[in-house]
Amino acid sequence: MKVDVLLGLQWGDEGKGKVVDVLTPKYNIIARFQGGPNAGHTLEFEGIKHVLHTIPSGIFRPEVLNLVGNGVVIDPVIFKGEMDKLAPFNINFQERLFISKKAHLILPTHKLLDAASETSKGKNKIGSTLKGIGPTYMDKTGRNGLRVGDIFSPNFKEKYDALIEKHLGILRHYDDFSYDLKALEKDWMEGLEVLKTLKAVDSEHFLNQALLAGKKILAEGAQGTMLDIDFGTYPFVTSSNTVTAGTCTGLGIAPNKIGDVIGIFKAYCTRVGSGPFPTELLDEVGEEIRREGREFGATTGRPRRCGWIDLVQMRYAIMINGVTELSMMKADILSIFDEIKVCTHYIINGEKVVDFPFDVNDLEIEPVYLSLPGWKTDLTELRSYANAPKELKDYVTYLEKELNVPINVVSVGPDREQTLLK
Ligand code: GDP
Ligand code: IMO
Ligand code: MG
Repeated sequence: MKVDVLLGLQWGDEGKGKVVDVLTPKYNIIARFQGGPNAGHTLEFEGIKHVLHTIPSGIFRPEVLNLVGNGVVIDPVIFKGEMDKLAPFNINFQERLFISKKAHLILPTHKLLDAASETSKGKNKIGSTLKGIGPTYMDKTGRNGLRVGDIFSPNFKEKYDALIEKHLGILRHYDDFSYDLKALEKDWMEGLEVLKTLKAVDSEHFLNQALLAGKKILAEGAQGTMLDIDFGTYPFVTSSNTVTAGTCTGLGIAPNKIGDVIGIFKAYCTRVGSGPFPTELLDEVGEEIRREGREFGATTGRPRRCGWIDLVQMRYAIMINGVTELSMMKADILSIFDEIKVCTHYIINGEKVVDFPFDVNDLEIEPVYLSLPGWKTDLTELRSYANAPKELKDYVTYLEKELNVPINVVSVGPDREQTLLK
């Protein structure tokens, strides 16, 4: 058995939560491998919309186990909040939700450091979700961090106090930065008590034994390839490896145990936060996509920047991740347009460019578009790909040819049912 991977190919919010939910019946375990509560994964079914931040998107299917892997960073306050929100749905968390002992904890001061760092960057700010992600991963690589397994150690409080002290020392270097640490700590300790009720496991053994026992595992990515710490539009990225390789380090899965890689993308493109976005539309068309697509962040509520799909960026993401199949999301949103544009390549300094460039932050990039006819038909009632309008099928076929990977899922609405399997 191998671990299949599902991840975002653009700048996050591609619709990963929805597709994980749709695919979950095929799996025994859903495992998050990186990121933290900066993620917001939306699932919709039976008229209810759920947004998950740290809990894997397989949590609503009673027969499926869910694991938060070692590569994830956990804020106990947000984690408790997610569990509280799910209380009406009678989920047996103690039996179905497992946490890696090696997952790192987001301390209250990590959030303060995130905010202080962003403020000090002024107009160069990353546009962080301010969930403490960067500072927590910095402490992980700086070898200062606290892990879930540490909660059970008799000297946990000492380790916690020492790290808080260190953070307060750093915070003193920032001017005009006030906070109420006592209030934050109270919530944090409450969250920690809830976290303690869940099974903390050696998740690398848990998963590898499950594979040996023939169980099917899906690794759920957060963020998107262009936010990857190594391959994204650095420094406007998150602090983890969001790509397929992140599954190996974030779950303890060997590279030769990776199976299918399912790449999720929107039929257009969005980004939230700062940083380059070559096909961004700052005109009325971008505004129409945002309005029609309700493109506002699931975690922060910020408006998402919108633009056409970018094949230079998509080919790059497919290459880095070894994508074997694609899911195209939000096709229904493009129904309003007479023509749909696709960026085929860039012109930079008068030259044609087909490979995503290193210095994308500083370059004057002119995206070159091909225009394809729109379908101008409501897709949201469609339940079979065979009945899809010809123009949609042509769009899908064109992308498959250009990207050289099959598109197996076309999504036509936020609900579980609004999913066309090809
Ligand atoms: P994720 O972070 O990748 O899980 O994506 P988000 O949940 O942040 O954002 C995707 C948004 O699009 C959510 O509001 C989903 O409910 C919604 N969505 C997903 N697929 C579709 C679709 O095919 N059509 C429409 N209209 N909405 C979709
Ligand atoms: P999901 O899993 C979209 C963006 C932030 C910011 C940058 C760094 O829902 O797709 P961070 O808080 O990680 O320090 O922010 O990354 N970002 C996301 N954008 N979807 C996400 O997650 C994101 N997680 C982080 O907006 O630009
Ligand atoms: Mg999201």
